[in-house]
Amino acid sequence: ENESTVSITVVGASGDLAKKKIFPALFALYYEGCLPKHFTVYGYARSKMTDAELRNMVSKTLTCRIDKRENCGEKMEEFLKRCFYHSGQYDSEENFAQLDKKLKEHEGGKVSNRLFYLSIPPNIFIDAVKCASSSASSGNGWTRVIVEKPFGRDSDSSAALTKALKQYLTEDQIFRIDHYLGKELVENLSVLRFSNLIFEPLWSRQYIRNVQLIFSEDFGTEGRGGYFDHYGIIRDIMQNHLLQILALFAMETPVSLDAEDIRNEKVKVLRSMRPLQLEDVVIGQYKSHSKGGVTYPAYTDDKTVPKDSLTPTFAAAALFIDNARWDGVPFLMKAGKALHNKRAEIRVQFRHVPGNLYNRNFGTDLDQATNELVIRVQPDEAIYLKINNKVPGLGMRLDCSNLNLHYAAR
Ligand code: BG6
Repeated sequence: ENESTVSITVVGASGDLAKKKIFPALFALYYEGCLPKHFTVYGYARSKMTDAELRNMVSKTLTCRIDKRENCGEKMEEFLKRCFYHSGQYDSEENFAQLDKKLKEHEGGKVSNRLFYLSIPPNIFIDAVKCASSSASSGNGWTRVIVEKPFGRDSDSSAALTKALKQYLTEDQIFRIDHYLGKELVENLSVLRFSNLIFEPLWSRQYIRNVQLIFSEDFGTEGRGGYFDHYGIIRDIMQNHLLQILALFAMETPVSLDAEDIRNEKVKVLRSMRPLQLEDVVIGQYKSHSKGGVTYPAYTDDKTVPKDSLTPTFAAAALFIDNARWDGVPFLMKAGKALHNKRAEIRVQFRHVPGNLYNRNFGTDLDQATNELVIRVQPDEAIYLKINNKVPGLGMRLDCSNLNLHYAAR
């Protein structure tokens, strides 16, 4: 491994995704020592930029995730020195051939592995893949491509996209990413279920009344309307991020932790899912409003959104998995932009205690008396379980408190 190199080309280096997620993630990998000894990061985009300008742009996106790490600044400098820029069109084999030349210089004759991260609109995926594979593939190592959703708009366009990618790549060169699967608490879902005796026995219709998968953001499209308006919140968040969480939540125990084994179990969940009914869906679109003297724009005020757009920015849906474990349990997805807070969480609401001796000590609010397990994916990760307790002192009053695993505190 020491004698091989990895070149990571971020195609679409000046876009929103690259700045918000990819460069910071690459730096985090570098910081954690997860990148190989010889690596180079190339930003590729149409605008003219020097290496120095790219570094300056990238440097503004980098953060040190945990405060007070003394050598963070130093590490950033080292990382930035490994970042370069190449300007080119996304459909130009010639421009990719020029990139190839630059990559070769860095690779210095070593075994060269190349990764292309497509951080570009989906309508140019294929052009870029074609050019990268014909003019900038590695001669002696692997070449891989990372794509993010949207993988099409529906089954047909998704199949067409896959078919087109396969003209230039084999399946094992294609890496499809759902970045929610990298969130700490989503990764922890299987650990929680399969590594603690006390949860898995409760994980079914017998004890669970409903499961809620909630995503909300406190900002709107903010110039991303060109992308968003073609897809809407269901395709932007539900079909991928929330559905992935649902599948992990609901699947049976996989044979092993191998990717294929987990994938097989997730597929079974999806195959058991009942087609979504229109009457089980609510959609909406955010309007303008004012709060504390500030006026927030409506969705259609975004200059990148058509004035008469009917694209949903909010949706709620009830999904059902018709298998033995989940028969009759609603999985409620809710997702929206420009709502009043930013959070992502899973809420597991348990059934009532049958014949609860203490019902009257709660007054009339029976809902209050049911247990709820909350997995807060972000912000401020936590897992807490609402349980009923006697209020200390004379008499018998009950109150619900949280058994709280607060990540930051732990
Ligand atoms: C992306 C969506 O996949 O996820 C965006 O396209 C959304 O609309 C983003 O803002 C949210 O990701 P995170 O990690 O910031 O919660």
